[in-house]
Amino acid sequence: MTELYKSKPVVEKQLLYLKDKCLELKKKGVEPSMKVILVGNNPASLIYTRNKKKFCEKFEALCEIIHLDEGITEKEFLEQVKEISNDQSVHGCFIQLPLPSQLKHIDVGNLIPPEKDVDGFHKDNLNMLLHGDEENALLPCTPKGIITMLEHYGESLEGKNVVVIGRSMIVGKPMTLMMINKNATATICHSRTKDLKAHTMGADIIVSAVGKAKFLNKEFLNQDGNQVLIDVGMNHDSDGKLCGDIDREDVLEHCKAITPVPGGVGPMTILSLAQNLLQAAEKSLYK
Ligand code: GUN
Repeated sequence: MTELYKSKPVVEKQLLYLKDKCLELKKKGVEPSMKVILVGNNPASLIYTRNKKKFCEKFEALCEIIHLDEGITEKEFLEQVKEISNDQSVHGCFIQLPLPSQLKHIDVGNLIPPEKDVDGFHKDNLNMLLHGDEENALLPCTPKGIITMLEHYGESLEGKNVVVIGRSMIVGKPMTLMMINKNATATICHSRTKDLKAHTMGADIIVSAVGKAKFLNKEFLNQDGNQVLIDVGMNHDSDGKLCGDIDREDVLEHCKAITPVPGGVGPMTILSLAQNLLQAAEKSLYK
């Protein structure tokens, strides 16, 4: 039987640690606090930011959404970000993406100071990841959540062949580095990869971050039925229903395990953000 690697039991278990850790920090005089910078009214961003705030409430950390006007100028936006991220009482901060068109060109990754960069986008954090210094880095949330999930379900990575499809700075590239740091043999594939199927068929674990509804079907899998499929996609099918990159019905009898959409990687990303917040808050004790 194919296993569903759901996020719910992982998040419930980790939430217990988050509650303990948050309480411990408060006893030491640090009240973990996050600011979310949201510009405009992108419907998905409104939902994501609300979910992130709700999650912080579950372990009693402070989280405030700073909702800026869709038409804000670049100058005003940069001033706001500076003021919010320099606030001494704030331990974690991130800018929800996407930004409206007048701000799209800004390299937001480096606007938040690295010690508060709970998204893990800052070049100093990525540099630590590149050097295998994961303990000191704030790691990008989606790949961090995928590692947490694989560990929870007892998937060892040592020596495994991992194929990551997608080369984004948020998922594909950091995911590949994290897999290598765990002693996996990781390959990154993308839209120009020749013969993607030859790669996916040789994989023990496939991470799909393509952004195309039901892109990956059983034709990409081998006959062993022992592959683990991680679906990062958040797409809509032809009926407008939320679905991943993987055609779940098609692959279900042909793999060892698969992460569902919804209820798989998405909540793991929020969990990682919360873990990063507490890591940043704890580090502020030793400044
Ligand atoms: N929009 C979609 N995913 C993300 C993410 O991981 N971080 C931020 N800041 N915005 C996003």
